[in-house]
Amino acid sequence: MSGIAVVTGAAGGMGEAICRRLAADGRHVLVTDIDADAATDLAGRLEGEGEAAGARLDVSSRDDFEAALAMVRERWGEPTILVNNAAITQAADLMTLPAQEFTSVLGINTSSAFLGCQVFGQAMADAGFGRIVNMASLAGQNGGTATGGHYAASKGAILTVTKIFARELASKGVTVNSISPGPHDLPIVHRTVPPEKLEAVMAGIPVGHLGDPEFIADTVALLASDRASFVTGACWDINGGLYLR
Ligand SMILES: NC(=O)c1ccc[n+]([C@@H]2O[C@H](COP(=O)([O-])OP(=O)(O)OC[C@H]3O[C@@H](n4cnc5c(N)ncnc54)[C@H](O)[C@@H]3O)[C@@H](O)[C@H]2O)c1
Repeated sequence: MSGIAVVTGAAGGMGEAICRRLAADGRHVLVTDIDADAATDLAGRLEGEGEAAGARLDVSSRDDFEAALAMVRERWGEPTILVNNAAITQAADLMTLPAQEFTSVLGINTSSAFLGCQVFGQAMADAGFGRIVNMASLAGQNGGTATGGHYAASKGAILTVTKIFARELASKGVTVNSISPGPHDLPIVHRTVPPEKLEAVMAGIPVGHLGDPEFIADTVALLASDRASFVTGACWDINGGLYLR
């Protein structure tokens, strides 16, 4: 399968699983992260028919998105897939959360999807084809449990941003969708939830276990496929039954 993919916040966790899957599918993959060294390191370890490269991309910077677009064009051609995966995940007490911290996390997480959809969405629209997947969260739907109000609010905003860009770009061959994962078996979950609480969290998940990041990667690959042209503006829930609608 050909195609040119850019993944943000991809140096580890969910982003790494997504890069591995897209690479295995034969895509060229630009692994981006605020941590350039980690992104480049992962790019060197990806296995697939396509090429991989790493780059620093701070998702709060429009210039960084423009630079990533220029880099991809120079190396491989027009981008066909963008996965807006980067986010700052933080726990915080809502009633004492400083306003500055609230707006900072809200701003970075939301601009992650907004700037990516603007810059890459325009390029894809001009080329007549594109697949954009925004990583939202269960927290954006139910208000969250372990994470803070800034994080949950930003993920709710991403769900809305997804719909607006989907409508804007639908007639240009570009789809824009989001995925809302519940808690997954990833380092961030083990870091933010103390071990004594993790068992209770798992017991509260109707299916009784954490999610598998590789299945999120499979879902991204499906939404990024040529055949996924009829899915846009959607949010696919992958939450073990924690939130039903
Ligand atoms: N892990 C879960 O269970 C879970 C659940 C729901 C949603 N999600 C979402 O999935 C995505 C990935 O989650 P994860 O568990 O891999 O998180 P993570 O914290 O392990 O990884 C996030 C990555 O983003 C990078 N990053 C942070 N700020 C950045 C910035 N300004 N610009 C670019 N990169 C930046 C970090 O360096 C890191 O590599 C996030 O959007 C998260 O909200 C995860």
